[in-house]
Amino acid sequence: MRLVVVSNRVSAPNREGKAGVGGLAVALRAALRERGGVWFGWSGRVSEAPAELPHIVQRGRVGYAVVDITPLDRDEYYLGFANRALWPNMHYRLGLTQFSRAEFAGYMRVNRRFAAALAAIIEPDDLIWVHDYHLIPFAAELRRLGIQNRIGYFHHIPWPPIDVFGALPGAGDLLTALAAYDLVGVHTERDAGNLARSFAEPVGGMPVPAAPRIIALPIGIDTAAFRAAAQHADANSVVQRMISGLGDRPLVIGVDRLDYSKGIVERLEAFERFLVANPDRRGNVTLLQIAPPSRSEVPEYEQVGRQTDETLGRINSSLGDTGWMPIRFVKRSYTRPVLAGLFRNAAVGLVTPMRDGMNLVAKEYVAAQRPDDPGVLVLSRFAGAAEQMREALIVNPFDKFEVAEAIGTALAMPKDERIARWRVLYEGLCRHDIGWWTQSFLDALTASAPLAALPRFS
Ligand code: ADP
Ligand code: G6P
Repeated sequence: MRLVVVSNRVSAPNREGKAGVGGLAVALRAALRERGGVWFGWSGRVSEAPAELPHIVQRGRVGYAVVDITPLDRDEYYLGFANRALWPNMHYRLGLTQFSRAEFAGYMRVNRRFAAALAAIIEPDDLIWVHDYHLIPFAAELRRLGIQNRIGYFHHIPWPPIDVFGALPGAGDLLTALAAYDLVGVHTERDAGNLARSFAEPVGGMPVPAAPRIIALPIGIDTAAFRAAAQHADANSVVQRMISGLGDRPLVIGVDRLDYSKGIVERLEAFERFLVANPDRRGNVTLLQIAPPSRSEVPEYEQVGRQTDETLGRINSSLGDTGWMPIRFVKRSYTRPVLAGLFRNAAVGLVTPMRDGMNLVAKEYVAAQRPDDPGVLVLSRFAGAAEQMREALIVNPFDKFEVAEAIGTALAMPKDERIARWRVLYEGLCRHDIGWWTQSFLDALTASAPLAALPRFS
């Protein structure tokens, strides 16, 4: 059966082998590389009169089928409803949620257009797998066109409790749309519970349809490939330059899209707190924060960019010295080998989102470590990854004192304990890698067996 993957962001490999930044693009590339298939979605381009049929490019075993959108589509669908309403709501940020009826209509319209474009190229046996919050109504639109294939959906961001989700105008319509899928996947048991409960009570007076089948299936990474990249990275000149610039100082690393959900400002403040509480560490440790800009035309993202710059400037100027800057902040993206090499040389991985569907950086950091001298992962309890990665130092990112203490604990952790924790985490990453995730979802989508009989991660 041919696999057809559908997502807003499609990441065709470029010549430097740079993956798109963002967990979904990185993960779907790994999944399709193993299995082959078609990847359909937005080209990333905006044009006044987009062609109605997709532009198809074959690269190895993957056919990329992409369509452009109009400037209005981009404003209403991508920058609007998807990223100013759904994204903040689903990351529990009611105060940041901006809803407009025109944007909601634009979101539905683009889903309809995308569905019509895909309908023109699918075959009766295709297995269709739709990804993420941009495309919740996609299956309902395909069904309207008479498409009867099996269609699965995976939600890569959190699913909040009904008191939060129910506040989103359009929530009832989204649940109705979701019911058109044969299977809906989320990363955690918590999200699965919240989603199932959303179907159990009426939202905004609207009757709610019967829930689709829901599965909690935590996404993995290509553990073997990332580890191999890390093993070869010491020879990489970018990694070497970066590491030699640190001297003997231990490195603490953070890598995230510049997004308010990632808690970057809060993380910088926690690191400041750590330095204030431990004056002997001043001059002796560096935080490298890599944060490429993301969705910068969305005002809330522009604002977090400004806050980050201000916080960074304040901390570096108040605590830095002529020969030492506490925080190095880099806004560009790197190839996977370079990232793997930087992770491998970092004594601490700081992954402290305020809320996150999964967080693949936490997994990549662990996969990159040296087995005989691994670093320590400090992980937010509000990342989906915390449900699996219990041997990390789990913290509350809203408490900068606690995060500061965890940084100290991580830097001082004896080697035996580091090795013991790392082994358990790494074994989990090998068992539940991207191949396991893809296969488990597709098995569940094709099976008619009750979900209780299907593989679970614990
Ligand atoms: P999100 O999907 O919300 O961005 P994840 O942590 O799940 O968060 O996934 C982010 C992905 O993007 C990871 O695979 C990470 O390695 C990659 N990434 C993040 N920042 C960079 C960067 N500066 N350069 C290259 N890849 C990056
Ligand atoms: C998260 C979302 C993805 C999205 C990515 C990058 O991982 O879950 O759907 O692709 O962020 O964001 P962007 O808006 O650039 O696609």
